[in-house]
Amino acid sequence: MASSLKLCLIGLLGAAAVNAAPAIVPETDVLGFSLLAPRDACTFSGSSGAANAIKNKKSCSTITLNNVAVPAGTTLDLTGLNKGTTVIFQGTTTFGYKEWEGPLVSVSGTSITVKGASGATLNGDGARWWDGKGTNGGKKKPKFFYAHKLTNSIIENIYIKNSPVQVFSVNGATELTLSGITVDNADGDSKGGHNTDAFDVGSSNGVYITNPTVHNQDDCLAVNSGTNVHFTGAQCTGGHGISIGSVGGRSDNVVNGVTIQNCNIKDSQNGVRIKTVYGATGSVKGVTYKDITLSGITKYGVVIEQDYENGSPTGTPTNGVPITGLTMSNVKGTVSSSATDVYILCASGACSNWSWSGVTVTGGKTSSKCKNIPSGASC
Ligand SMILES: *[C@@H]1O[C@H](CO)[C@@H](O)[C@H](O)[C@H]1NC(C)=O
Repeated sequence: MASSLKLCLIGLLGAAAVNAAPAIVPETDVLGFSLLAPRDACTFSGSSGAANAIKNKKSCSTITLNNVAVPAGTTLDLTGLNKGTTVIFQGTTTFGYKEWEGPLVSVSGTSITVKGASGATLNGDGARWWDGKGTNGGKKKPKFFYAHKLTNSIIENIYIKNSPVQVFSVNGATELTLSGITVDNADGDSKGGHNTDAFDVGSSNGVYITNPTVHNQDDCLAVNSGTNVHFTGAQCTGGHGISIGSVGGRSDNVVNGVTIQNCNIKDSQNGVRIKTVYGATGSVKGVTYKDITLSGITKYGVVIEQDYENGSPTGTPTNGVPITGLTMSNVKGTVSSSATDVYILCASGACSNWSWSGVTVTGGKTSSKCKNIPSGASC
């Protein structure tokens, strides 16, 4: 105990010495004495804040990131935090410019709380990378926020501005809540933002994304695999809609139990969508879309297709990733006149046990290309 206390002290002094501003403010007890135990409340600031946070993360019970400027090509690496650690973003977090894969921020651990203080912004300044090509070419763009291997944890009130490309990657999570997240990539509409998915979910069990506000240029949500995923109270603007898939061709190709409820999707390419990969295997079970409102949809109000290959539809569906136990309930709204209200392209026998009620999408064209529509549903 004595030696670990001493080591901690040295660590703290070392960190403070390399900083102009005090890097760490140790928690004090009621008498005002420093409690230099391994679990301190730590504050990291400015251009050395990321390095000091990474170095000292295991000795802090609370990590406050105050106006941190993360250097180019560096991940603000908060993986492997001690159980019960709280991370607070305060002020504006910025990131240097480099063409690389990222991520800009990564957090993992058990019983972790990540939150934004009032008025805090994580500003990706994505316009520096935007070239209209997203992940399909041009500049290599860093992904923003890895929420990987988080267990019994919560990420709340985080405000993301102008992500270079995809924003939250949720993977290997168990019982993770993301509450009150904002993704504001509105500037990307006119400045070349592309593939700026807000939430990509894979290989997770128990994900609760509640009340997100998103303006972006790709999926508001994309679930590639996982069980027990909930997406509720979302406001999705400008993107590609709320998606399952594409499912197939990855290491995990099972989607089982997804509830998408009480969401508004506006000025987006699609409303709700399920896509599975041509020639692949896997399954999509127990997906529910309920109480969804659409407006200003430019491509498809509701689209379900089993024909994707290399990110594009082939027009030929295959049956290796069946879609079963799908519920569409009270999905309503309008699409533009050049859009299609509903499109269902299933392989023979590969879509079954669907419940379809109160689906009223209007304003667009009626598809003549639907195939193998299960009983109850209609195009
Ligand atoms: C049909 O789908 C519902 C909803 O997901 C599910 O509860 C039920 O077990 C399914 N029935 C069959 C026969 O698979």
